[in-house]
Amino acid sequence: MKHARSLNANEILELVFIYLTEISSLRDHDDVIVILANMGRALTSSDRCSVWIADYEKQRIWTKVAHGMNPIELPMGSGLVGYSIASGKKIIVDDAYTDERFNPDVDKITGYNTKSMMVIPMFDNNDEIIGAFQVINNRGEKGTFDQRDMERLMLASTYAAESIISAMLAKEVEDTQKEVVFTMGAVAESRSKETGNHVKRVAEYSKILALASGMNEKEAELLKQASPMHDIGKIAIADSILNKPGIFTSSEFEIMKKHAELGHSMIKNSDRPLLKAASIVAHEHHEKWNGSGYPRGLSGEDIHIYGRITAIADVFDALGSDRVYKKAWDDEKIFNHFKEERGKHFDPNLIDIFFDNLDEMLSVREKFKDVYKDGKSREKSLKNHIKILGAYGTRLKGFGTTSFLLNETNVIDAGNLISPLEEKCAIIENIWLTHSHLDHISDIAYILDNYFAIRKQSLTINALPETIKILKKHFFNDLIWPDFSKIKLINSDEMAIKYSEIELNKEYDIGENESIEPFKTDHTVPSSGYIYKKNSDAVIITADTYSLDNLIEIIDSRDNITAMVIECSFPSYLDALAKESKHLTPKLLFSSLKKLKKSGIKLYINHIKPMYLKTIIDEIQLYKGKTEPIILKDSDIIEF
Ligand code: C2E
Ligand code: SIN
Ligand code: SIN
Ligand code: SIN
Ligand code: FE
Ligand code: FE
Repeated sequence: MKHARSLNANEILELVFIYLTEISSLRDHDDVIVILANMGRALTSSDRCSVWIADYEKQRIWTKVAHGMNPIELPMGSGLVGYSIASGKKIIVDDAYTDERFNPDVDKITGYNTKSMMVIPMFDNNDEIIGAFQVINNRGEKGTFDQRDMERLMLASTYAAESIISAMLAKEVEDTQKEVVFTMGAVAESRSKETGNHVKRVAEYSKILALASGMNEKEAELLKQASPMHDIGKIAIADSILNKPGIFTSSEFEIMKKHAELGHSMIKNSDRPLLKAASIVAHEHHEKWNGSGYPRGLSGEDIHIYGRITAIADVFDALGSDRVYKKAWDDEKIFNHFKEERGKHFDPNLIDIFFDNLDEMLSVREKFKDVYKDGKSREKSLKNHIKILGAYGTRLKGFGTTSFLLNETNVIDAGNLISPLEEKCAIIENIWLTHSHLDHISDIAYILDNYFAIRKQSLTINALPETIKILKKHFFNDLIWPDFSKIKLINSDEMAIKYSEIELNKEYDIGENESIEPFKTDHTVPSSGYIYKKNSDAVIITADTYSLDNLIEIIDSRDNITAMVIECSFPSYLDALAKESKHLTPKLLFSSLKKLKKSGIKLYINHIKPMYLKTIIDEIQLYKGKTEPIILKDSDIIEF
């Protein structure tokens, strides 16, 4: 037996390219599936690859394509393939003969000796299992299959599933071609854990913009079909980067940026107009009008119109969608971003066209919206959650300061309420303050001022007695801002503001099965963090602090705390400043956390000073050890 070494990323691309080029010239579904089986075999360095089909009427599974043997049929549920088809599970087996699910009958008939095996079930668009993709006997040194082989086989199997479905539905041949190409985009997309609807929406948006900018119907349709492939190069990006649940470090982003050039080189050699258009889209969708994009830094009309259109379609959809690394933005923030980036990131003319055709864009978004499993909206489908209204330690364009929305009427801190909540500010009843610093209190002033006339009840400021004293003396003192505790609301007999002193380590109810409990923290002014409890779980929020001793003691002594939010304001080289101003750096944070005995508590980091964001993110990587911290951004949601 030949020994094949495992393939590197370039070799994989080469292979995918060769096979896809071959497929794009085929006219018959069965031929397409044969080539896909060859591709599956090559990508996983295996000896044989078989494509199995489930026939639910006859209760049989049969091989549509099988290397080195005649077509074969088995009863439904038989063997490892049968198991995979019945359960929908992917399987990797190192030695089939030691696995009791294995059916040795096939070997008996063919005289072949099966050892390692990998099976991936194939699904149709309704999530019904239509068959399975199977590879046997890895020809590498180890002779077994691993997770990487699995990912590569997934590629081939997804295309195969599409072809089989098309064949079953006896669709037009030309349709299959489109479908396969479309699927290529969807595969890149699905590996990155995003919904298939993303590529549909990007396709539709691109066509709307293309037509409105004067492109003829035929070319606009071509761009519509090509645009879903903009991120095809992501198939070559490692999973650890592609699906990283947090913000990239600079070096991770450099690697991700390669997807544009990679996608381009995968398909640039094809003569088919569709793949030609797709290669332009893959190459140029991250170029920016002012020349600051990648990979080539092209500017203005040097960027192909396909690239300029797809850029808008892609970003419009990305900003409005949840990603593993960020939450969806609301529309106003998206539209402001587009206005702001007109002539910078985006072609100014196309931005005007975007706004002129906004209704049509929005109806596409509605038509292909992401559906969550239970059919509910995103936030309603969440478990206990806290919405981060502002995540950062100071104000800078695009960055909000500290605020946590616990429920409709209760927030912790008031650094950023006005812009994310808008009129919903008027129904906030309780602000629970951690301390008196401006980045934690500033929006109290504005929510009283802006929504004074529509407020129906007082706003209660819950804080330590010292903090309340400071607010009365230095803020709501009729000098800096009116003393709202003496001003009556218009629609009520109550005063606009009420103060309520909190006691440390006392639990306050804020809803049904919902409470908040202050605990002492270590800052330059009197300060507290909060334990927010809902049903049986709790999250501990520190606010600004230098020492973590009290926090650690609380977490170690209680069983219901599943997550902690801790600040990290400065980079480690500013540790003198951090100590002086009683804040943490990545180095201090992770060395203090070593004292924590409990494991498995999720760590969220906030209060980063935005101008050090990149440095701090890089340092967190450096010091985090085995923990997997999540760096909070504005409008993130903590689920617990
Ligand atoms: P994507 O998530 O599909 O985003 C596509 C483009 O939409 C981004 O290109 C960017 O121009 C825009 N975009 C998306 N989210 C935001 C946002 O929160 N703020 C702003 N200002 N723009 C946003 P970009 O930046 O070149 O990124 C390309 C791809 O790299 C992204 O595709 C995503 O897959 C990945 N990526 C970028 N940054 C991160 C990150 O911090 N963490 C992770 N895990 N992935 C990232
Ligand atoms: C099995 O899936 O267990 C038997 C079928 C085969 O060896 O290909
Ligand atoms: C940005 O504005 O580019 C990101 C900051 C945020 O998510 O608020
Ligand atoms: C704060 O404590 O966040 C404000 C003072 C500082 O940035 O050091
Ligand atoms: Fe991209
Ligand atoms: Fe502070």
